[in-house]
Parts: sequence; structure tokens; C-alpha cells
Amino acid sequence: MSQNMNDPDDELLDDPTEIDVQSPPAPVAADVLDACEPVDRHAKVASVMEHFLARPDVISLPVIDSTNGRPVGMINQAAFMSNLAKPYHKEIYFGRSCSIFMDKAPVIVDAATPLQDVSARLAESGSRATADGFVIVSDKRYLGIGHTQDVLRVMAEVHRVQTRQLAIRRDHLEDVVRRRTAALTLARDAANAANIAKSAFLANMSHEIRTPMNGILGMAHLLRRAGVTPKQAERLDTIEKSGLHLLAVINDILDISKIEAQKVVLEDTPISLPGVLDNVRTMLSEAAAQKNLRLELVIDLFPGDLSGDAARLQQAVLNYASNAIKFTDDGTITLRAVCLEASPHAVMARFEVCDTGIGIPAEAIPRLFNAFEQADNSTTRRYGGTGLGLVITRRLAELMGGEAGVRSTVGVGSTFWFTAKLKRRGERASHDAPGPKHHAEADIRHRHAGKRVLVVDDEPINRMVARVQIEDSGLIVDSAEDGARAIELAQQHSYSAILMDLRMPNVDGLEATRRIRHMPSHSRTPIIAMTANVFAEDKARCLQAGMNDFLMKPFATELLFAMLLKWLARQDSPAVLVA
Ligand SMILES: Nc1ncnc2c1ncn2[C@@H]1O[C@H](COP(=O)(O)OP(=O)(O)OP(=O)(O)O)[C@@H](O)[C@H]1O
Ligand SMILES: [Mg+2]
Repeated sequence: MSQNMNDPDDELLDDPTEIDVQSPPAPVAADVLDACEPVDRHAKVASVMEHFLARPDVISLPVIDSTNGRPVGMINQAAFMSNLAKPYHKEIYFGRSCSIFMDKAPVIVDAATPLQDVSARLAESGSRATADGFVIVSDKRYLGIGHTQDVLRVMAEVHRVQTRQLAIRRDHLEDVVRRRTAALTLARDAANAANIAKSAFLANMSHEIRTPMNGILGMAHLLRRAGVTPKQAERLDTIEKSGLHLLAVINDILDISKIEAQKVVLEDTPISLPGVLDNVRTMLSEAAAQKNLRLELVIDLFPGDLSGDAARLQQAVLNYASNAIKFTDDGTITLRAVCLEASPHAVMARFEVCDTGIGIPAEAIPRLFNAFEQADNSTTRRYGGTGLGLVITRRLAELMGGEAGVRSTVGVGSTFWFTAKLKRRGERASHDAPGPKHHAEADIRHRHAGKRVLVVDDEPINRMVARVQIEDSGLIVDSAEDGARAIELAQQHSYSAILMDLRMPNVDGLEATRRIRHMPSHSRTPIIAMTANVFAEDKARCLQAGMNDFLMKPFATELLFAMLLKWLARQDSPAVLVA
């Protein structure tokens, strides 16, 4: 449908009723007769003379262009006859301009002038002859002598045809516009429907894939904790690594789809740049050590009150840094954060990842930041990957008000960079944003052991994984298989925290949260959504229903403990709970 837009056989371009309505023909000047061919001129003189001889009462003849019925001038009988009487008239009339026949004030009327006005102008010319006859020229050629009535008929016909053509043209245009509008509406509706279907598909897929992944990774974790032989530990390693790899690929695909569907909403929470880069280093230190690569951080001095989306920033740096490790065999990888500009309200930061790796040929660089592109697209390529890391980083940088790029020399190394604008909160930073929670579990055991939490999930494996993990930290765990059971339990016990799945049979997580929130004993209980739904609007719906925070499945055990610790600690403080 939409291809009509660029159709080379466009109906408008190919319009059979084409009329140049914009520019009416220029008025014909009196000198049209100058251009008459000699043969015409000869015939004209003879015929004009004949006419005047037959009608001695006719003083002058208007000159009319028969192609459009326009009067272009007058021929004066006296002037004509006196010139004709001269003995050398032939030379004069055959060799000279016909304009000498013209009246001093020829009647010239623009083509756009209405018919009645033209008749009026003819009458005003004072020539009685206008009623009888005139010289007719067509396409600047003399045609003969005509009669006023004939010419007026021609003019009327020209006007009628033009008006009709204009009407046809207008109807045709209206029809084309109507059809185009209908086609565009259909195309837009189809695109909207496809977009909605895509989002729903992504949400479902992510839920469907992440939920079993949670089971796989969680179970592997539990098996390891229960004690295994070295051989089993090695196999668990493989399960975990493969699981995490698969999860990373799924996350990338979901991420790029979400970004393209403009579904990514950035967080705006306190952020510590050293914390972000340090996280990346921690995550990659093992991979770097395995390849004997040095991993260095160089961080400018930044204001301490920055806010932004730490997770997305970390993801953007991590994409660059993991590439650097992948494509470098020896040397150093440097993660750098530079403060380009600082104002009281914001900071422009530049992040660089510099490696001493294989480098990239100049001709490959322009396409690298596109989805699924790799420098080596051949089937025999040496390095794995889906080709999504760079495009995600660039899009994230753009979302954060920055841009991304690379400088590279083959055989020497590459420097990938991106910029991002971070807001300032305008307050003295009391402490850095929470970094990795190495000791969350120990903290919980130390400070909150014996408190009771509720885990609500319809998936038995998930319930069991969460229960065993949480119980290890000294907390008491109740579990419920759906929202209805959670409400029942909440009526019987007061909980220090509730972990709530969203999609469940009978009563779902949102409804259960709303009902539990209304119980006086749970008006301030931290309720943490625990879900595989990844879209920002899901998060918004959770907060609206009265939840306090959001844990995305599958989650690392450390993250679960960090989340629990954060809310258990806040519950102890007298401050009102806010998300
Ligand atoms: N530091 C680097 N040194 C050399 N080439 C690089 C570097 N970083 C990226 N590239 C090139 O850019 C390509 C695209 O990188 P990108 O991160 O988008 O995808 P990928 O690493 O192949 O896959 P993944 O989606 O798993 O990240 C890489 O395949 C590689 O050819
Ligand atoms: Mg990559």
C-alpha cells in the first residue's frame, strides 16, 4: 500500500488532464503580426484589403488570436488603404512589419479576463467593425478574416473547456487525495498493530525465556552450594556459563528491540562513575586474567552528586570493554572516564575503552555500529558474537544525550568512545550510589536474621530457588503459589518484605499487592516485584499498584540480597517508604 508513495507511475505525474493552472499564458503583444511568415503576410494583405474594399464603412479591424480568442490589436482601414495606394506598396507590404497597420491603441486583453470583459473591451475600442469582422491569427500566423460572433463563440468554447478541465482535474485530485489518505490510514493502522504485536511478543518471549533460565541458573547455584565433586563443579560451570551466555544474547536482542520500539526509559538515580567502571572491571577481570591482559581504570575527578541510569551506562561500557578483551591478545585495556564539561546542572562525560588489539580496517568502520554487523562478516570468522554490542552502546549513548564512535589502526589497537550527559542533583553527595554488594548476605545475617519474608511465585522451581537462597541468609521464608494465597498469608503474619511475581493464576501480583497494601499491618511493608517482564511500563504498573521496587528475573543472588538488604534497612528507619 505504502509503495504508492514512491511509485514512478505516479498518477499525479501521469495526469491526462494536465493543465498549467499556475501560469496562464502571457498576454499576446500587438507585434505578433511581425512574426508572420512572408507567405502569410501576402495572403493577409490581400484578404484584409478585400475585406475593407467590400466594407467601406468598416473603420478598423480587431486582430484576434484564434488559439485563445484574444484580441491582440486593431488594423486601421485608413492607414491600411493609404499605404496600399502607394505605387511601391508591394515592397512595403511584403518587406515591412505589419504593425504599421495597427491602431495607436490596440486592444490587448489578458487570457484570464472573463469573456464578458473581453466583449466590453472590444465594444469600447470604438470600432464599428468589431461587430462585423477582424483579422484572425493563430500560432502567430495569419488565418483570415473572421466574424465577431465566431470569435466570441470560440472564446466561450475555450472558457467552457478550460472550466470543465479544471473541474475534472479538481475531482481527480480530490479522488487521488482520498485514496491516498485511505491507504495511509490503513498503512498506519497496520504499522501500529504490528508494533503492538511486536511489543507483546517481546514481553511474552522474554517472560517465557527468562523464567526457565531463572530455574536453570538458580538450580545450578543450589547444586553447587550443596557440595559437588570437582568434576561436577566443572560441569556446573559449563551449565552456568552457557546459561549466562544465552541470557546475554537474549538480553541483547530484547534490548535492541526495545530501543527501536522506543520502549527504553532511563532511570534517574544517584550514580557513581568510579562505581560503574569498577563494576565493569570486576565483571571482566577473570576474562582479562585468562588472556594475560592488564585492565586499567583512569577516572577524572567528577562532581559527587551525579544522577543517571547506572545500569545502562554500565552496559554501554561493558559492551566496549568485553569487545576489547575479545579482540586483544596481549597488552593493556584501559577504561577511561573524562569530564568534558561541567555546569551546575549537568556534566558531559566521555567514556573510552582503549585496547592494544587487532584493530579495524578503515573501510569496515562505517558499518560496525549497525545491528548484526561485524568487521569480519565471513562464515569463517574467528570471533563469536551476534554483532549487537556496538549498536546498543551507540543507541544508549544517544538516549543519554551523547554519541559514540571509534578510532582504530589495524595491528595497533582501537579506542571506542561514547559521551553521555549526566544530571547533577545539586546537593552534597553524602555517599556514593550503592556499588556491588559483596557483603549483602552477611549483612542480612548479621542485622536481620529471624525476620520473616514472603516469596510469591506460581513457578515451583522459582519458589524453591528463592526460598533456599534467602533462608541461607538467616531469614525465615514463607511461600505462596499465587496472589490469593499471598493475601491469606499476609492476613496471618506481618512480613518484613514480600517478593511478588507478577503473572500468576487466580489473583495476579498487581492485584495481590493492592489488597495487601490496604491491610493496616502491611501499609509500609516493602513489596518487591520479581518478574521477567522487562518493559518500563511494567515497572510503572508495579509502582502504581503499591510496590516499592523491581527485581528482574533471572537475577543474580547478590542482587537479590542487595535488594533485600536495602529494603530491610529502610524499614528499620523511621522515614516514610518511597520507591
Ligand atoms: N575492540 C575491538 N577491536 C577490534 N574489532 C572490534 C572491537 N570492537 C568491535 N569490533 C568489531 O566490531 C564488530 C561488532 O562489534 P559488536 O560488539 O557490535 O558485536 P560482536 O562483539 O561481534 O557481538 P556481540 O553482539 O556479542 O557484542 C565486531 O564483530 C568486531 O568485528
Ligand atoms: Mg561485542
